[in-house]
Amino acid sequence: MDVFEAIFFRRSIRKFIDKPVEEEKIARILDAARWAPSIGNLQECEFIIVDDLGKKIQLSEAALGQYWISQASVVIVVLTKNDRVSRLYGKKADDFVKYDAAAAIQNMLLAAHALGLGACWVSVFEEEAVERILNIPSELDVHALIPIGYPAEKPNPPHRRGIEFITYFNEYGNRWIKLKEKQTFPA
Ligand SMILES: Cc1cc2nc3c(=O)[nH]c(=O)nc-3n(C[C@H](O)[C@H](O)[C@H](O)COP(=O)(O)O)c2cc1C
Repeated sequence: MDVFEAIFFRRSIRKFIDKPVEEEKIARILDAARWAPSIGNLQECEFIIVDDLGKKIQLSEAALGQYWISQASVVIVVLTKNDRVSRLYGKKADDFVKYDAAAAIQNMLLAAHALGLGACWVSVFEEEAVERILNIPSELDVHALIPIGYPAEKPNPPHRRGIEFITYFNEYGNRWIKLKEKQTFPA
């Protein structure tokens, strides 16, 4: 699948059919994650694959009652270890590990879509509860739960702000209106 097709047609999927995702596809998604850029190429993102129904229900509860999460075939939990990044980058480390996680997550969402799967980025959860459920040491950060499965919905694209509303030319506030006509995908 062309990268632009994946970017434009990926949607957050929150309904899944009852069909397990093949291990080859899970491995492919994790390959996409580990090839994301990372600060200093330190590669501090780690992942937990959760397919146990009881644990998926507990994760749904930790995600403030987002019970649709438990219908996914697997939930991949995205973590970072921060000690090496902290030692090298000091106060910026907290931001940097978040950027690393976000880059890995976006690769995973696009890879899932390209493999015919549905997925969603879930970061609204109680971190301590997730740590408890999955036995994660507290020095790691938990960034996201990514429920993945075969989709049971095809949502319409939600609104996006047009290029001309988010882009400036040479200085902040100077809108680059001419890009409006060059936008290739509808708002
Ligand atoms: C940082 C972040 C946290 C998110 N957390 C949740 C969440 O907890 N639950 C959820 O259903 N969607 C969550 N989303 C998904 C957004 O709601 C979704 O990306 C947005 O509505 C745009 O829809 P689209 O992904 O289909 O383009 C999150 C997205 C991001 C980037």
